[in-house]
Amino acid sequence: MNKNQISLTPEQQEILDGKKGEVQAKVMQTLITYGALFGAKSMEKVTGTYNHLVTSFGLKALTPVYDLMDTLINAGAVSGQKFSADPRPLDKNVPSSFLQNIVFKHFMYSQQENYEKQLQKLGLMDEDAFTCTCYLPEVGNVPKMGDVLSWSESSAVVYANSVLGARCNRNSGIIDLMGSVVGYVPKFGLLTDEGRKATWKIEVRTSEKPEAQLLGSCIGMKVMEDVPYITGLNRFFDSLNDDAKSYLKDFGAATASNGAVGLYHVEGLTPEAVTYGESLLKKGYRTFVITDETLRQTYENYPIVWKNKDAKPKLCFMGCPHMTLHQLVDWTHRVDKALKEAGNRQVCIPTVFTASPSVIKAFRQLPESSMLESTGVVLSYICPLMYMNNPLSGKMPVITSSNKLRTYTTSRYYTDDEILMQITRGGKDA
Ligand code: F3S
Repeated sequence: MNKNQISLTPEQQEILDGKKGEVQAKVMQTLITYGALFGAKSMEKVTGTYNHLVTSFGLKALTPVYDLMDTLINAGAVSGQKFSADPRPLDKNVPSSFLQNIVFKHFMYSQQENYEKQLQKLGLMDEDAFTCTCYLPEVGNVPKMGDVLSWSESSAVVYANSVLGARCNRNSGIIDLMGSVVGYVPKFGLLTDEGRKATWKIEVRTSEKPEAQLLGSCIGMKVMEDVPYITGLNRFFDSLNDDAKSYLKDFGAATASNGAVGLYHVEGLTPEAVTYGESLLKKGYRTFVITDETLRQTYENYPIVWKNKDAKPKLCFMGCPHMTLHQLVDWTHRVDKALKEAGNRQVCIPTVFTASPSVIKAFRQLPESSMLESTGVVLSYICPLMYMNNPLSGKMPVITSSNKLRTYTTSRYYTDDEILMQITRGGKDA
């Protein structure tokens, strides 16, 4: 045991004692201190093939991060695994004003190029590895059941834990990198069998398949950082197919951002729920029933922070988290059909669909690619949040069906159907 009461293996102790250099020793000590705060008693080996980093943007204000990265690089304390990273913040194809471009390039993300060079030296998978949906097959960072990860992007952590059955805590930026520099993470919370048990039973009793982002928001706000076991949702899916995975991606991101969920179980659908069923429920669990009315109230209680609530939307963002190939194809057909029905050729509101560079490449091979182009929808790899998080963009009336984007920015939430109506007819009720 060390002073933090975390027992170390001889190999871990050697790293702490400086056998691999002073920098690795400091990284190990940081992870031990971090784990001790959460009651960890040991360190667990990181086993995933790849890591994933949340810090992907060269924000001018992050000088201490760049200094730290240089310290790691100069000491040869680079990542033991290759890694993907969250989306890039800039894409010239996304509509922006002259002033916004100045703010993005010269004030906000002026360090982007240098930072990407640091990421390459530290172990970036490849130049296309910028996405929050690193776990999609096109990107290739797909953890296996039981893999121990050192990720921190909340939407990716909740997906890896829940849909793939990997084990990962909701870490923070830089801690994620540190875990793969030494190859160990502190064992607590979602890395333990006990921490993966549910303290909430959520009974979904809606008359139809709930909107993923709305259901996730409702559950996240109720259970906060607890683990929910959800019943009544699997009746809307045949299996854990592409449709279900896309749904769970959006659902999970909403639980993670509107609350702080890192793992959920869906009865009959997600791997641990399929294997262990209701034995995942902890003794004394609480129950929450969700009906059509619960979801309606959740939606109606979202604050609208636009200065002019009746403003005509200037931009629509879809794809936070990044869209799957399945969603891109599906949305292309939906937009195309709705435009034809409305007698319009192109979308009435500038609209951006976001997806990973790898998914975009795969989509470009499909006939739907030219179909989407002709609707006027822009396809981009950026993170909409990074576009929105400045006073200039914050003043714009932006709409989205992402509850994560709604939570962190001034953008306004609408259901998928309402978004479709707005972008193809120019009004929610048209
Ligand atoms: Fe992904 Fe950015 Fe949304 S990282 S989940 S697109 S906020």
